[in-house]
Amino acid sequence: MSLKSDLEQLKEKGLAQIKTVDSTKVLNDIRVSLLGKKGPITNVLRGMKDLSAEERPQVGSFANEVRDSLTAAIETKKQELQTQLLNEQLSAETIDVTLPGRPVEIGTSHVLTQVQNDIEELFIGMGYQVVDGPEVEEDHYNFEMMNMPKDHPARDMQDTFYITNEVLMRTHTSPVQARTLEKHDFNQGPLKMISPGRVYRRDTDDATHSHQFHQIEGLVVDKHITMADLKGTLEVLAKHVFGADRKIRLRPSYFPFTEPSVEVDVSCFKCGGKGCAVCKYTGWIEVLGAGMVHPNVIENAGIDSKIYGGFAFGLGPDRFAMLKYGIDDIREFYLNDIRFLHQFKVED
Ligand code: DAH
Repeated sequence: MSLKSDLEQLKEKGLAQIKTVDSTKVLNDIRVSLLGKKGPITNVLRGMKDLSAEERPQVGSFANEVRDSLTAAIETKKQELQTQLLNEQLSAETIDVTLPGRPVEIGTSHVLTQVQNDIEELFIGMGYQVVDGPEVEEDHYNFEMMNMPKDHPARDMQDTFYITNEVLMRTHTSPVQARTLEKHDFNQGPLKMISPGRVYRRDTDDATHSHQFHQIEGLVVDKHITMADLKGTLEVLAKHVFGADRKIRLRPSYFPFTEPSVEVDVSCFKCGGKGCAVCKYTGWIEVLGAGMVHPNVIENAGIDSKIYGGFAFGLGPDRFAMLKYGIDDIREFYLNDIRFLHQFKVED
C-alpha cells in the first residue's frame, strides 16, 4: 500500500511544516502546495482509478482524512497567526494615558490690535461710532476736502504715495472725517465718530519711521461744541491709556483742517512729570494732534459752519504702544517676530 504510506508521509511532513510557519502568507503558500489542484493529495486521488475495488474506498477515505486534518491544522494555525498579529498591533498602539499632553500654542492679538481695541471700546462707551475708510483714497478726500488745495504747502509735510494724479494711498485717517461728514444727517443727532486704520507715507523705514503705520481719527460735530469738550475728551483718553494720574496740556500748533490747532502732551507716566529719559527731561510727552474743525472742512461737506462745528483729533496707536510698553523700534510691530509678539500675550 505505497499510496497509503505516501499519504502518511505527506500528512506528517505537512503538519510539521504548518507547525513552524510564522506568517499568513507562507501558510497560504503551504495550503496551495498541499491541497491545491496540482498538489500531492489531488494527485493521489487522481491515481485511485488504478487501484483495486477493495483498496479504493480505504485509500479514498484515508486521503480525505489526511486532507481534513491538514485543512484543520491550517485553519488553526491561521487563527493563531491572526490573534498574534492583533496582539502585536494592540501592544504597539497602546496609548499611555498618563503621559502629559502636547501643549497647543495659542496666538494672541497683535499689540497694536490690543491698543486699538482698547481705545475703540473707550469711545464706543462714550457713544461714538467706529467708521472705516478706504486706504486707497482720492486726492479729493485726503487733501482737498480737508482744506488742503492742490498748491497747499502742507501737502509737502505728508510724503505721499501717489497711484495716479488723483488717487493715492491715504497719508492720514482724516479723509474719513470728510466722508462721514458728507453722509451724516444731523436731524438724527450729533456726529461722534472714531476711525482707526492704516496710513502710508513715503518715508524710509527706521526706528521711528515706517512707510505704513496706524492712526485713529476722532471727530465730533454738532451745535455748540467747544474746545472744553475737546480737552475733556482727550483727558479721559489720556487717563484711560496712560493712567488715572495723568494730566494733559494743549500747545498751539497748526493743521490745515483745524482752527485753532493744538499739539497734545500728556504728563510723563514714567516719572510723573519730574523729568526722565522717557519724557526727555521735560515732564511731558507729545501724544497727538487735535483742534476745532476748520469751517472750510464743514462747508466742504455741504454743512452750514455758522450752525455746526466741532473738534477733531488724530493719534498714532503705534506711538501709544511704543510709549506704553517702552518699545524703541516701530519696525518691531511689522516684523512678526513671535518672540516680540508673545510678550503681549493676553488671556482673551
Ligand atoms: N491728520 C493729522 C496727521 O496725520 C493728524 C491730525 C491732527 C488729525 C489734528 C486730526 C487733527 O484730526 O485735528 O498728521
